Amino acid sequence: MRHIISIGDFDRKEIDHLLDHAGQIDKRKYDENALRGKILAVLFFEPSTRTRMSFESAMARLGGTSVSVGSVEACSIAKGETLADTVRVVSGYADAIVIRHPKEGAARLAAEFATVPVINAGDGAGQHPSQTLLDLYTIRESMPIDGIDIALVGDLRYGRTAHSLAFALSLYNARLHTISPKGLELPVNLAAGLKERGMEIIEHDDISEVIDAVDVLYVTRIQRERFPDSASYFNVSSNYRITPELLTRAKKHLIVLHPLPRLDEIDPRVDKSSHARYFEQSGNGVPVRMAMLMQVLQ
Ligand code: CP
Repeated sequence: MRHIISIGDFDRKEIDHLLDHAGQIDKRKYDENALRGKILAVLFFEPSTRTRMSFESAMARLGGTSVSVGSVEACSIAKGETLADTVRVVSGYADAIVIRHPKEGAARLAAEFATVPVINAGDGAGQHPSQTLLDLYTIRESMPIDGIDIALVGDLRYGRTAHSLAFALSLYNARLHTISPKGLELPVNLAAGLKERGMEIIEHDDISEVIDAVDVLYVTRIQRERFPDSASYFNVSSNYRITPELLTRAKKHLIVLHPLPRLDEIDPRVDKSSHARYFEQSGNGVPVRMAMLMQVLQ
């Protein structure tokens, strides 16, 4: 039985193998009955569009079924049942559990009590490993991942997609450029761990300092709720906004990624640019999650 809680649960060879498999699936080379008779329990205690629907879609495309509790309010957690008891019970109804929870560490706790594999679909400010795999898949569609210069932009303190991706990129000898508002920098312990793994991390005050040097711009949402008032948010948010004017200085092959949802950090005019890849990126969630589910359930 294998849980997928952190991107650190994979080594480089396993990631490459999974991405190769997703590539085959993308070419429609898969058995539509591979997971017939298997049931995935979808335990989402936080809002989601992409992760939830792409896991459900992945399961359906492989002939399997998904069951869910609907929402926190609709399940017995609302009556005070613990997460541990919930996953023990759900383990009896399904062959695997995919869980999203607002608390960091919740997926690992669930894995301790579940008797079926658990996949972390985002735990607070912790990790989002399936997002990272589809991010890597999307980069690999445009360029080899090895040795890229990538800028992580936005809320790097709480952004779990940035945490998982930064860790994974340390396996690919990437150089990391970080651009975030004061107080929302990459957590010190994560940055220290990445440096110990040999990763070069360069902090910048403004995207314009680095726009002509990077291969990938990975933009994340700046959460308004982290600022004391709207004025403070609007003061910094324009410094982290990707516009067509900014991209005129970018390398021709630069790609712009965003895990989505976006607010105003990417100007909608960028959508038509040859650099924009964020909608393809969210679509890649299906083949990548199909490959993950086959690995966990077969
Ligand atoms: N990227 C991502 O996790 O999106 P959702 O919150 O919509 O699942």
